[in-house]
Amino acid sequence: MEYVRFGNSGLKVSKLCLGLWHLPPLKERDIYGVYKVDEEESIRIIKKAIDLGVNFIDTANIYHGTMQGPDYIHAGKAEEVLGKAIRGYDRESLVISTKVRGRMAPWPNGEGLSRKHIRWQIRESLRRLGTDYVDIYLMHRPDPSTPIEETLDALKDLVTQGLVHYVGESYFHPDDIQYIYEYSRSIHLPFIAMQEPYNLIERDIEKDKIPLAKKYGLGIMAYIPLAQGVLTGKYLNGIPEMSRASYVDEIRWRYLTPETLKAMREFHELAKELGVTDAQLALAWILRKSEELGVTIIPIIGVTSVAQLEDNLGSLDVKLSGDVMSRLEEISRMAKVNWEVRYDRVIKLNSP
Ligand SMILES: NC(=O)c1ccc[n+]([C@@H]2O[C@H](COP(=O)([O-])OP(=O)(O)OC[C@H]3O[C@@H](n4cnc5c(N)ncnc54)[C@H](OP(=O)(O)O)[C@@H]3O)[C@@H](O)[C@H]2O)c1
Repeated sequence: MEYVRFGNSGLKVSKLCLGLWHLPPLKERDIYGVYKVDEEESIRIIKKAIDLGVNFIDTANIYHGTMQGPDYIHAGKAEEVLGKAIRGYDRESLVISTKVRGRMAPWPNGEGLSRKHIRWQIRESLRRLGTDYVDIYLMHRPDPSTPIEETLDALKDLVTQGLVHYVGESYFHPDDIQYIYEYSRSIHLPFIAMQEPYNLIERDIEKDKIPLAKKYGLGIMAYIPLAQGVLTGKYLNGIPEMSRASYVDEIRWRYLTPETLKAMREFHELAKELGVTDAQLALAWILRKSEELGVTIIPIIGVTSVAQLEDNLGSLDVKLSGDVMSRLEEISRMAKVNWEVRYDRVIKLNSP
């Protein structure tokens, strides 16, 4: 495994991060109709990743494992599973990121980025994870009802207390990221991370957020690097049983357009020609873009089996030529992602 500096910070991370938004589902559902998490396979995946050199693991307080937008009844499960999996490893060998913002309880302060909510949730996350600190604590979407300065001052206190080492944002407006960076510097808060969607067919961040990351030396954690599985070729002949699209409707509306499926067929042919899997080609493209752009971009891979994990880690050995990059550029232009059915939009805060 190769390790790189995360942006301009001194933190060293593996070139791929393991993400725990989705975990392998069991076929059995709970009393709310939600698929139960296959904890044994989840723990096998996390341990295997660590044993293969992945030191970077991403989760969130809200994550369940089989729900995209978990309710507060299901929230917390992914952190608990991670806590079980890392028992027995030296905590200092790992870089763990988690997030705060989503609803964790029905009461008024049960969500958000207020000082009160953050101080409650860091304690809860640490309890679920079974650890003393979080390496990167991310603001999981903006909270327009809390002044951003209150949030950043509260995060600074967590850093001073040793509960958090670094902080980051996810899906904030570029103007707000700039303000967050500047305010953080003024209070000596180590703001180092952006977590943003990025893959061959969803490249919005190339316009504004990648230039910002470059300007400020921030590292990017690229989420949905395989467009939730669409870039693995698994949907070329329908929707396989228990695949993510079989229980998450949004994938069908957002990605499975005739244009994207056509692009994915060409993508599949190109991968075959190169003797790699579709997933490896898609991840290798992001790693190559990171080099070209001169910005740390770490794909956060989500997997539901050890076999998928091993397949995806194979991308680290794939080197793409300029010619292949040009062909991928054409394929990227052919795809049509339905932005109008995106699950959320960037909210602009009233930062000065
Ligand atoms: N900050 C945010 O708001 C945010 C939002 C989304 C995600 N994230 C982070 O990003 C991480 C990754 O997101 P993601 O899970 O959507 O990533 P992804 O890599 O785009 O999609 C992962 C899914 O693709 C399928 N897959 C992966 N590798 C495969 C392979 N080799 N062969 C066949 N199928 C394969 C699996 O789905 P099935 O097997 O179930 O079909 C897997 O769960 C999350 O875990 C989370 O940490 C953050």
